[in-house]
Amino acid sequence: MAAGARVVLLGPPGAGKGTQAKLLEEKFAAPQISTGDILRKAVAEQGDLGKRASEYIRRGELVPDQLIIDLVAERLKEKDCEKGFVLDGFPRTIAQAQGLEELLKKMGLALNCVLSVQVPHELIVERLSGRRTCKGCGALYHVVFDPPKAAGTCNRCGGELFQRDDDRAETISNRLKVYEDQTAPLVSYYRERSLLKSIDGVGKVEDIGKRMIQALGDVAA
Ligand code: AP5
Repeated sequence: MAAGARVVLLGPPGAGKGTQAKLLEEKFAAPQISTGDILRKAVAEQGDLGKRASEYIRRGELVPDQLIIDLVAERLKEKDCEKGFVLDGFPRTIAQAQGLEELLKKMGLALNCVLSVQVPHELIVERLSGRRTCKGCGALYHVVFDPPKAAGTCNRCGGELFQRDDDRAETISNRLKVYEDQTAPLVSYYRERSLLKSIDGVGKVEDIGKRMIQALGDVAA
């Protein structure tokens, strides 16, 4: 991937976007920008943004577009984004995609590639219901597919693992519906702009990572 690559990871909840974004961040030294992580941090800090976002997240609804676009605009101005970035969970509406295009245009930039991760519905539910996240460093685990060495404790930093509020069964089904209604149209949006690459999101984490690197390599060639 060329220096300064700007990538979007698109896919339903539980597709593995966060898992793969961390691998790509390490591989290409381009920061992962997860709007979900930024919002959860804001909720934990109980500031203005967190208070506005918490009820949407708990219900599995999307936070209003302009709030998210402003948040990403601020993040993209930071120095570490000069070498590119991996957007994880943004954009997820057509309005957000248009907002991103405008933001990048003002910066004299454009996206290089949108990786659309495909995972069947049954697997998504299994992945989300078993997900555990470290309170300390944000590392991701799965109780069956990638369990920590000691139950409830992060291998990396010793932090406590927790289950996200929005990974309860009823919220998962609403998140999937919201994805189909509001985010899936981005597949055609980016295909029409010749930016879309489809990635099979089933298999070992490392193998999926290799598929992504291969797809990004083609873009840079
Ligand atoms: P967000 O945090 O973005 O959640 P999401 O898009 O629903 O995606 P997830 O984080 O659930 O899944 P993922 O694809 O990252 O999968 P992961 O790698 O963790 O958003 C949360 C909420 O914030 C939204 O509902 C909304 O309210 C709000 N929000 C965020 N962005 C917004 C925006 N732009 N606009 C408006 N609102 C916004 O993997 C899942 C599990 O599977 C893990 O346990 C992992 O270990 C495991 N796993 C991963 N890959 C594999 C594999 N290959 N094999 C086996 N297990 C695997």
